[in-house]
Parts: sequence; C-alpha cells; structure tokens
Amino acid sequence: MVSFPVATDKERVDLSKMREQLDEIYEQSLRTLEEAGSTDELETWHRETLGRKGSVQLQTRHIGQLVPEERPHFGRRINEVKQALEDAYQERATALRAQELEAQMAAEALDVTLPGRRAWRGRLHPASQTLRDIYRIWGDMGFQVYRSREVETDEYNFELLNIPQHHPARDMWDTFHTMTPGVILRTHTSPGQIHAMRQYCPEPIRVILPGMCYRYEQITARSEIQFHQVEGLAVGKNITMADLKGTLNAFARRMFGEDRATRFRANYFPFTEPSAEMDVECVLCEGAGCQVCKYTGWLEILGSGMVHPTVLRNGGYDPEVYSGFAFGMGPERIAMLKYGIDDIRYFWSNDLRFLEQF
Ligand code: DAH
Repeated sequence: MVSFPVATDKERVDLSKMREQLDEIYEQSLRTLEEAGSTDELETWHRETLGRKGSVQLQTRHIGQLVPEERPHFGRRINEVKQALEDAYQERATALRAQELEAQMAAEALDVTLPGRRAWRGRLHPASQTLRDIYRIWGDMGFQVYRSREVETDEYNFELLNIPQHHPARDMWDTFHTMTPGVILRTHTSPGQIHAMRQYCPEPIRVILPGMCYRYEQITARSEIQFHQVEGLAVGKNITMADLKGTLNAFARRMFGEDRATRFRANYFPFTEPSAEMDVECVLCEGAGCQVCKYTGWLEILGSGMVHPTVLRNGGYDPEVYSGFAFGMGPERIAMLKYGIDDIRYFWSNDLRFLEQF
C-alpha cells in the first residue's frame, strides 16, 4: 500500500464529495465501456480505467485527504468499483469477441448452394481410342499385347527381317538415324516380331505389338514422321494362309461392320512369303467410288503375309516344323477411314477443335 502525506485541515475533503466523484468516474466508465466497438478499443479502455495510472487507481491518491477513520471506508469503496468495472469489462469483452467472430463468419461465408465450377474432363486421344478398339478385338481372339522398344538396331529393324544392307527393299522405309552408328528409330513395329519369337521360342505365339514408329518423310495430308502401328504375329504348327485370311476378315468385320466387304491383293514384303495387302470396301462411298478411295471403291488397311522362313529361323523356330502369319496395320489410317478424317496431320497438331469431336 502506498502511503500518502497526511493532509492538513485546510486540505481535508469531505467523504461524500469524494464518493460522488468516484461514482461519477464509475458511471462514466460504464458508458465509455459500452462505446468500445472493438477488442482494440476495449484494451485501451482497460488501460485508461483500471490500469496502474488509470482513472480509478488515481482515486487512491486522495485517500490521504480524508480523516483517518474514513479512509478504510473509501478504500473499500474503490475496490468495489474496481471489481464492478472489471466484471463489466469481462462481460463486454466476451460479447465483443462473439460479435467480431460473427461478423468475420458473415464476411467469409461460403454459399454452399452455389453451383460448382465445371470440372474439365479429359478424354482419350482418337488414336488411343482406336488402339483400344483394336486391342479389344484382338484380345477376344486370344492375342496378347507385347510391348517392344521404339529405338532399335539396324539388325532388328532390317537385317533379321530379311532386309540385308544395300537391299533395294530398304527404300520402303525412310529412316531416322541416331548419332550411334547402327541405332535407329524403328520404322515399323515388325522388329518386335523377332523380340517376341526369341523370348517365347519354342512356344506357340499369338501377340499384337502396338507402338509408335518413325519415318523420315515429307509431312503431308497422307504421311507423318511419326505414327502408330499394330503388328500381329501368330506362330505355331499347321498355321496356314486360310488362318490369316479368316482372322483378318474377322477383325475387319468387327472394326468396320458386319457387312463390310474385304479383299486381299498380292504384294511384296521381305519378311513374308506370300504377302498380301488387305482392303476394305470404302466406308465413305460404300464402294461406289469417291475422292478418298481414289475412285476404286476400296481402302487399304494393312499389310500381311506368311512369316518368311528366314524370319522364323532368326526368331529361333524351325521353318520345317513351324509356320506363322503376320500383319501390320496403321491405327491412324484406320481411324481416318472410320471417321472420314481427311488429313493425318490433325492427329499430332493438338487442335482442340479436332480432338473434342471424339
Ligand atoms: N512392316 C510393314 C510396314 O511397315 C507392314 C507389314 C506388312 C507388317 C506385312 C507385317 C507384314 O507384319 O506381314 O510397311
């Protein structure tokens, strides 16, 4: 307790006057407390009213001006006022905090009834869709997907497929070479045949080999430097040309429709003997002849043939015991025929106006 100098008679103050003054401070403090509009203002109020140099505390300095017997009485009164104001302060603080929280929640309110933002759903590229259609059909006929590399050696891409160095047949494949001599980007999926045979020999084989191929070509409406192929290979005993025709016809009917006519044309590939290309009746003109089928009524969809004995041997199979058929088709070509797409460059030019149609 701080002691104060004892007042002289002249300075003595009347207790009732001091109480009046204290009551007035009390009343006024209650009013300003009500006016405090934020927790910040409330803290300021607390400091200025109940703090060490606050208005109520300052009243204790006047105790010394009272006659001694009145002093405890006034001291008690100050404490009562302090307690009452402290209680009022706590009450106000609680109310203000609730008010502020409510205001904040109202300001940051989420309207959960608003419609959500549309989620952009991706979709499969038309080439992927066509690939999956192809996998499904071949899968139903017992063919497994066999993945093989896009970067190949000259040996696998050409030599083991019965295309020796300097053979004119190499002109059928314009090739991208890497800086490593003998390492190239595969020009077709056919080298996968050798990989599959060497892995499975002497077991029978039924696989399709899908994947990207690369050719050093002038890019035009009909040819791209990269495109997919799906190779097919069946190896076993007693596999004949009739199996090849029946299987490929079954594929064409499921891909293009039950009534779609097909035909085989003799052709040459170094890795098959005999070799044939397969045409389907033009899907656009129904065989009548149009610009797309060059007025022939037919569209070529794949190359095929009976696996050449040399290729069988390179895969580890004895051509006296085993035979097989193989084919290679272009899914982008097939998609173009199926959907009437007139330019192959759409596939890799990433134009949404094209892609969103599928
Ligand atoms: N590899 C050939 C090409 O890219 C396509 C092909 C033709 C694959 C005949 C075959 C086949 O398996 O038997 O032009």
